[in-house]
Amino acid sequence: MKSVLGQCGIGALLLLAVLLAGRLQDFSSLHVGSGAQMASAAAVVAAWVGWTARAAWPRRRDDLPHDVGGILVVHASQTGFATELAERTAAALREGGVRVDVRDLAGLGASDLATATRALFIASTTGEGDAPDGAMAFQREVMRAAPDLHHLTYAVLALGDRDYEDFCAFGRDLDRWLHARGALPWFDRIEVDNGDEGALRHWQRQVTQLAGAAEQPDWQRPAYQAWRLRERLLLNPGSVGAPCFHLALTPDDPAHLAWEAGDVVEIGPRRARGDADVLPHREYSIASLPADGSLHLVVRQQRGADGLLGSGSGWLTALAAEGDAIDLRVRRNAGFHVPADARPVLLVGNGTGIAGLRALLKARIARGHLRNWLLFGERHEQADRLHVDELERWRDAEQLERLDLVWSRDVRGPRYVQDRLRAAAEPVRQFVADGATIYVCGSLAGMAPGVDAALREILGDRAVEDIAAAGRYRRDVY
Ligand SMILES: Cc1cc2nc3c(=O)[nH]c(=O)nc-3n(C[C@H](O)[C@H](O)[C@H](O)COP(=O)(O)O)c2cc1C
Repeated sequence: MKSVLGQCGIGALLLLAVLLAGRLQDFSSLHVGSGAQMASAAAVVAAWVGWTARAAWPRRRDDLPHDVGGILVVHASQTGFATELAERTAAALREGGVRVDVRDLAGLGASDLATATRALFIASTTGEGDAPDGAMAFQREVMRAAPDLHHLTYAVLALGDRDYEDFCAFGRDLDRWLHARGALPWFDRIEVDNGDEGALRHWQRQVTQLAGAAEQPDWQRPAYQAWRLRERLLLNPGSVGAPCFHLALTPDDPAHLAWEAGDVVEIGPRRARGDADVLPHREYSIASLPADGSLHLVVRQQRGADGLLGSGSGWLTALAAEGDAIDLRVRRNAGFHVPADARPVLLVGNGTGIAGLRALLKARIARGHLRNWLLFGERHEQADRLHVDELERWRDAEQLERLDLVWSRDVRGPRYVQDRLRAAAEPVRQFVADGATIYVCGSLAGMAPGVDAALREILGDRAVEDIAAAGRYRRDVY
């Protein structure tokens, strides 16, 4: 009934427009020379037809989501990209007048799915085909149950990278699960390989169409800004490991000196001098605060089996000269920001993972939040100190409540951070009971799974998954 009325409405409008256009023609033939009047009358009609047609159009398409309620936009993100895309998706829907509820999958329960009728999921994959940390509780509690989702229409944007074996594994699992529970796909899952713009455009088009919104300019990642390398210091002279450098960079435009501890930088692709190859884009954790006056990175120089310098790190650690231009943009990584309040933080990391942890510590100290505990591991106490002198100064100044350093090649005490963590089980439990957020930064091979296993032993699987769902277990590992 509603759609019949809608169609009648449109038909009546068109008829009226035709009649009015006819009247206008008569009008113009009688009053030759009153072009301005005619144009303004035409504009009024056009605007009126346009406005009424626009108002009538969504009502006629009564399959549209906003007729029955809003759209749930759900993100599951490890390093912020899925969250950024969820916000853009929401903005595009709102542009079309759709009510939107943006939610992190971490806080989504079966009851939210029971009441939603339309949902868009943007889900990344991390680790080795794993769901983002925050999604663990959803996987455990909601995905293992068998809710009936026949009332739900949905679509999935799966983020991943084909360099990994299990491409888009979590997005695919989520899609299969929704479908198996009876939910109806709005359109096929879209998979994004390493931020591929074609796939993002495809998603954007689908979303704009759903919203009935006007065409919008293509989503683009923010442009790279012009920065310069100002300083490069070797942090581990005499190390048996690969050289590790502290870099300081400044932007040409001082307004770009803006980020939060936990954010990451993307270094733009560039052509090596005299080389036709374009060097790939690279990501690094930021090691400083804007108040430091420059952006710090900690970069380990990589060499291939052939002994040649790695393409990204080689440029930053050897080829670029001080003063050289570097294309850089900051990516917000809200999942790795410090808590707003003074509750404790437990920071765990190794090697170049010190970068992100150092920025977090600086942010905590700047806020006067001093319940900070850092466990950091490297190889040799003498050679691999990275920023350890500074950490010890913070500890001595009581800005770092506890500092545990573990040296895997100096055979004294525990060898790795996970061993140190196990040895400190009781204080770890106490810290978590006091509301601590745990941050893990460093290598995915060995360290991150080792720390995860140790935390599960100390706190129990359930507690680890619960704190992850509450945003209190955050990992930036690579
Ligand atoms: C440590 C790490 C592990 C990853 N593992 C996978 C993987 O197993 N499969 C995959 O398709 N993509 C993988 N990726 C790529 C991410 O899914 C991709 O970069 C995505 O855009 C990240 O989105 P997010 O910032 O919302 O987490 C991995 C990325 C990182 C940093």
